[in-house]
Amino acid sequence: MNALCRHSLTVCAALVLASGAAHAELEPTALVDQQHCMFCHTRDAPFLAPSFQQIAERYRNVPNAQFMLEHKLRLGGKAHWGDMAMPPAADRGGPLSAEDAHTLVLWVLSQ
Ligand code: HEC
Repeated sequence: MNALCRHSLTVCAALVLASGAAHAELEPTALVDQQHCMFCHTRDAPFLAPSFQQIAERYRNVPNAQFMLEHKLRLGGKAHWGDMAMPPAADRGGPLSAEDAHTLVLWVLSQ
């Protein structure tokens, strides 16, 4: 949750509205920062890694992709996009709980 959301429900509602229909989920900023997601990913431009929009496009309608991605976010796995695999959470900023992985995957797939 955004810090402002805890502070005031009104501000929170405004933020959710401002983030617009295109992004149903609020960005889980603290997690994203702690895990350095934006070091390698961007929302819309492939860089060191596929963009979150590309990833969402690829997996949105794939059954069970969510579980595979959550597992991969936590523990790593083989590359699906090229030669470079994503490092496991422990190498990115610390261990990631199943719950946090779930939040992050839902957020990525909402882009
Ligand atoms: C050190 C660079 C790096 C960081 C940091 C990083 N990623 Fe990645 N990520 C990659 C690369 C490279 C790939 C492509 C791997 C592949 O081919 O499957 C990838 C792929 C992914 C995929 C798709 C996996 C698949 O199997 O198709 C998701 C989802 C993802 N990243 C989410 C995240 C999130 C969320 C974070 C922050 C918690 C994050 N990444 C942090 C480099 C990174």
